[in-house]
Amino acid sequence: MRAMTEMNLKSAFAGESQARNRYDIYAEKAEKEGFPNVARLFRAIAYAEHMHAKSHFRVLREVEGGLTVAGGGFGFKSTSDNLAVAIEGETFEIEEMYPSYLKVAEEQDEKGAVRSFNWALEAEKIHQELYTKAKEVVDGGNDVDLGPVQICEICGWTVEGEAPDECPLCKAKKNAFRTFE
Ligand SMILES: [Fe+2]
Ligand SMILES: [Fe+2]
Repeated sequence: MRAMTEMNLKSAFAGESQARNRYDIYAEKAEKEGFPNVARLFRAIAYAEHMHAKSHFRVLREVEGGLTVAGGGFGFKSTSDNLAVAIEGETFEIEEMYPSYLKVAEEQDEKGAVRSFNWALEAEKIHQELYTKAKEVVDGGNDVDLGPVQICEICGWTVEGEAPDECPLCKAKKNAFRTFE
């Protein structure tokens, strides 16, 4: 594997791993503040980030060596503040991180990395939307109205409501979805 793509995959693995833990911690806080649906949203999306981390890790299966992890996304306050941190993180991934990682992977013809970065990028757009909607409602003092949240166990694609017959990203069948309800 080419060095830049390898580094980007490791970085993305670290970022997704952190996001998973961060969202699980935020879920506990939302629960305590009386926002059970926001808590469920955090847990569902934490699971999607876990799927992204797994996907990046699998692409790295032949790669050895570590990674010195840096990066932000710390802070643990009210659920509204936590949602703001989450939105900021998703936005960074959508606007900067994954588009540039994708360009490098494409340029280096690293097909596994291209696929894994694409899967993550597309799901992060949905996460950003769901968190933004939740923050608006929480800022009004209410819990968000939220149907079942479906997470694709292959690619991390995320949708509220019914699971589709086929995942639009990775084409996995309906039974590959894990439901958070
Ligand atoms: Fe995300
Ligand atoms: Fe999928």
